[in-house]
Amino acid sequence: MNRDIIVLGSMNVDFVVRVKRRPAVGETIHGSEFSIFPGGKGANQAVAAAKLGGNVAMAGRIGDDVFSKVVLDSLAAAGVGGELIVTTPNVPTGSAFITVDDTGDNSIIVIAGANGYCSKNDVDTLRPYLEKAKILMLQHEIPMETVEYAVQAAKQCGAMVLLDPAPPVSLPRELLSGVDVLTPNAHEAAFLTGRQVVDVESARLAAADLLAAGAKAVVVKLGADGLVYAQDGKFGSIPGHRVQAVDTTAAGDAFAGGLAVALCEGKSLEEACRFANAVGALAVTRKGAQPSMPERREVEGFLGN
Ligand code: RIB
Repeated sequence: MNRDIIVLGSMNVDFVVRVKRRPAVGETIHGSEFSIFPGGKGANQAVAAAKLGGNVAMAGRIGDDVFSKVVLDSLAAAGVGGELIVTTPNVPTGSAFITVDDTGDNSIIVIAGANGYCSKNDVDTLRPYLEKAKILMLQHEIPMETVEYAVQAAKQCGAMVLLDPAPPVSLPRELLSGVDVLTPNAHEAAFLTGRQVVDVESARLAAADLLAAGAKAVVVKLGADGLVYAQDGKFGSIPGHRVQAVDTTAAGDAFAGGLAVALCEGKSLEEACRFANAVGALAVTRKGAQPSMPERREVEGFLGN
């Protein structure tokens, strides 16, 4: 089956605790809640895009343990195609240990598990699908050599590349020049440019650096403060939506899913950013990664369409 959007990346099970504050070194504190959610930046982006109406397949590696079902069921329920998912024997499914505080902010430790086995050979099996796809979405929770190889493969096959550089690592020009839209958050933009990114002006400077470093377009996400986008030497900013943040986990993944669907539908980068900005805002109003992804009609209602 042809797919418009292929997401190559991580599938995790998220183990989430809610706390008033994070414990100091050597300290024990009480949390208020423990939950298990389907997660992983790749799978979250796939679910986000599918719930918004995208024709999406997830590609990557899952373990052969009991946790794989948590993620596979969630992908299937959202309508994400699972035909490119490989089960890896004797390896655990990727996992993430997440702390969410009373403000909704999160901190995350990821254990790669099966995601770490995602290889260049896996990318080669994707080529026939990439030739028919419009967009390949990537993140940094699979080996970077696989990410780099996938960028090259997508270019050879004529697919647009959206790269969410999370968790951040240094990106060579060769890789960046194959990226059509790079979507760092403030922390990642700071890592990639060596600048402090704290507001629209500093995000604009970071975006300019990343364009100069080879990316064709850059969107720097500023959380509640919105975003800065840059393409062809032109810059714009979009303010954040005022919402009650319950859990910011996967807000960036929601944004990426929205951006991919809108670009796939032929919207301009600015229009796609406006749509994705609303998707991300709605996602922070709910708990969990994949359960927080909004449906298309909710986003349209939120935007007053
Ligand atoms: O972006 C949020 C995601 O990061 C979580 O779902 C977790 O699995 C980690 O991959």
